[in-house]
Order: sequence, then C-alpha cells, then structure tokens
Amino acid sequence: MPVNSYMKYTSIKGMSDIMPQDMDLWHKLEDTVLRIFVAYGYREVRTPVLEKTDLFVRGIGKETSVVEKEMYTFKDAGDDMLSLRPEGTASVVRAYIESGAYQTDPVVKYLYMGQMFRRERPQKGRYRQFHQIGVEALGVADPSIDAEQIAMGEFFFKSLGLTDFSTEINSLGCRECRPTYNKLFGDFLMKKQAHLCADCQRRVTRNPLRAFDCKNPQCQESMKEAPLIGSHLCKACEEHFGSVQNFLKSLGVKFTVNHKIVRGLDYYMRTAFEYTTDKLGAQNALGGGGRYDGLVKELGGPDVPGVGFAIGMERVILLMQALGLDKYPPRDMVFFALLGDAAREKGLPLINMLRQDGVCAELDNEGHSLKSQMRRADKLIAHTVVIIGDEELKKGVAVVRNMHTKHQEEVKLDLLPMHFVRVEN
Ligand code: HAM
Repeated sequence: MPVNSYMKYTSIKGMSDIMPQDMDLWHKLEDTVLRIFVAYGYREVRTPVLEKTDLFVRGIGKETSVVEKEMYTFKDAGDDMLSLRPEGTASVVRAYIESGAYQTDPVVKYLYMGQMFRRERPQKGRYRQFHQIGVEALGVADPSIDAEQIAMGEFFFKSLGLTDFSTEINSLGCRECRPTYNKLFGDFLMKKQAHLCADCQRRVTRNPLRAFDCKNPQCQESMKEAPLIGSHLCKACEEHFGSVQNFLKSLGVKFTVNHKIVRGLDYYMRTAFEYTTDKLGAQNALGGGGRYDGLVKELGGPDVPGVGFAIGMERVILLMQALGLDKYPPRDMVFFALLGDAAREKGLPLINMLRQDGVCAELDNEGHSLKSQMRRADKLIAHTVVIIGDEELKKGVAVVRNMHTKHQEEVKLDLLPMHFVRVEN
C-alpha cells in the first residue's frame, strides 16, 4: 500500500485502526458473543478505560509483569495516578462493589467487550491496545459454574467455525495449600538457580510459579522434574477440581489437565483455564481465566466468590483469517445513477425511503457522468443499479439493471420501493 508522503501522524506502536473492510468480522464476533453469553445469563457492563492505578495494583498484584512494567500510568492534572485498564476483571469487580449490585442480587453475571492496554513488545497477536471479550460471574462458589463458563467459551469458538484450539485446565490451590506448594517449588527452583534465566532467578523468591510461563528452553528443561501443584492440593481444592472435571465431562467438553498453567495475574485460586491454538505461533493463548474468590473482598467489597475469563478478539480474528473463515459476501447494495437535478430530486426521497427500510442504497452525490457512476456502482459491488435520467422521468419509470445477470427492465417510479422490498426480502 503506498504511503502518503505528506502523512505526519501515525498510530502509536502496537495500536491499530480497525478499518471498515475488517468490520464484518468484528461485528460477527460481537453478535456471536451477545447471542451466546446472554443466553447463559450474562448481561453487558461497560466500565471506563481509565481507573485509579491502585485498583490494578491491588487487584492484579504488584509483582505481576502487567503491573510491574506493562501499564500505561500517568498523573492527571488533579494529581491522581491513573492507568489505562490492562484487563477487565478489576474494573468490573470495582463497578460491582460501587453499584452495590450484591445487595439486591446474590448472583450477578456480567459480560464486557472493549479495549485493554498493555505496554508489551508488539508482535503478531500481541498488541499494546487490544480488545477482550470477557465474563465475570459473582456470587457462585459451586464448581458447576466454572465448568459452565469453560463450556460457554468453547461453544463461542465453535460457533465461529473454529475447531483448532485446545482447552486446558488446572487448579492453583487456595490460601490453605498454595503457600506450602509455593515453598516446595521455590526450594526446587533455588537448587536449579544456576541454570535459570535472569527473569526466573528473580522469580525464585518473588513469584516462583510464574517460572512455568518462561519460554526459555533451558528454564523449561530445568523444570522438567519440578513438583506440580496437582499433587499438593488440599482436600477442598481437590474436590472442587474433581467436580469441575466431572461437570465438564457431563457437558461434553474436551479438555486436558495441565498443571503448568499458572496465569499471569495474581487473583486466581482453584480453577484456572486457557484456550490455546497452535496456529498462531508464539501468541498461542486465545483466552483464559479462572476462579478468583477473595478478589471482591480484597477490593473493599463483601466476601463474594468470582469466576470469569477473557478472550483476545484480535487473536480470534487472526485465527479466523488463517483458516479462511473471514470471507463475507458483500452487503446487498442498490446504486442509484441519477442524471441531472430533476432526477436527483425524484431519486433522493426514494433512496431515503429505502435506507429507512434497511435497504443499503447509495448514489453519486456529485452527479458525474453515467459512465463514471456505473464505475462507482461496480466498485461498490452493487447488485442492482437504478438509472433515472430525463428520458425516464418523462415516462415515469426507472431502468433497473441487475449487475450480475445484466438483465434490464423498466419499473414504474411509484412501484420502485415495492420492487426493492420484494428483492431484499
Ligand atoms: P489474560 O490471560 O491476561 O486474562 O488475557 C486474556 C486474553 O487476552 C489472552 O488469552 C489473549 O488472548 C488476550 N491478550 C492478552 N494480552 C494481549 C495482548 N497484548 N495483545 C493481544 N491480545 C492479548 C485476563 O485479562 C483476565 N482478566 C481474564 C479473566 C477474566 N479472568 C477472570 N476473569
């Protein structure tokens, strides 16, 4: 694509425009989400993209990479420290507490869609502004809802025609059993310290579990024999995890247990899950989530359990494009070639009426030659062109040309709206 040599401004690195030609796919995702997630009882919430920084530090955890180095944070003119949201859970939980929703309803289920911001190193599938579809269910401790959500996410992908993904689950334990496991794993890493990358060496004391996320082959090799959380869960966590798996089986969800899924945000406990694909290279996580009992309380609300997940919309779109699922027939379009002012006076109200009836109708407002207008109709992939000039006006007709069959007929001007209602329906 030629770059305009006068162009002064470009978008910020890692942040892209979504242009009209890609919108069909975005709308498809949004429509599918609303259709499916609403049927599962989730209702849309929209929160601001800016929040007080402390909400994320408290909610996500100050030792996570997201909070440590990926947030867009600034002091505003009123000296408040603000951050662009790097994810949706903390904001949605804040809105839940602030609105007092828990006072009127013991179970609240939210869905959300929108931009998130993380200052990561951009590459295919990893951006600094990206979009998530997410859900949060607040007030249900029972493992059946963890399984329901995993099944809902799976159904969402399948409804888009995607089958090339896997569903992996884990239990991250709870306040009872995780500290003991963390210590065990930390001690194990300590012994391997000499073979670990600088990042993992830092993790040993601060956040050992995160070492499982490291892509460095030497670190992965060193962790081959690592103790896994699955064998160190307390009884309650083991039961919860067992139930999630039983419910998943009863729902017909294919999943694998992967005890190395640790998630990059600190609020998780018990169930953690990820949808991954091997079709997108390094950025293989299409979505992920889990249970976060304790977060609502941590953020100043009542002790209400929560579970949720988010899907990266750009990654779903990349996958659909990679699999050729992004081809949509152009919208049916009627093009009016109006020749002269009199024809335009007659044609404009007709176009207006059709548009108000939901028919996609277009014209050349500048009134160029018939040849040029036909070229424009071709460019817009119009299925029909309606030609009205002085001749037609005299006869009270329009020439209606089917651009696919090239068949032409005269239709009385009064009957034109009816003609299109017939064609469109
Ligand atoms: P997350 O795993 O950080 O979880 O993000 C969810 C998904 O967002 C990822 O699986 C990925 O598809 C997408 N994503 C993340 N970062 C980027 C990026 N830089 N560029 C493009 N896509 C990205 C969360 O955000 C949790 N809030 C999910 C959740 C909801 N857990 C409980 N409730």
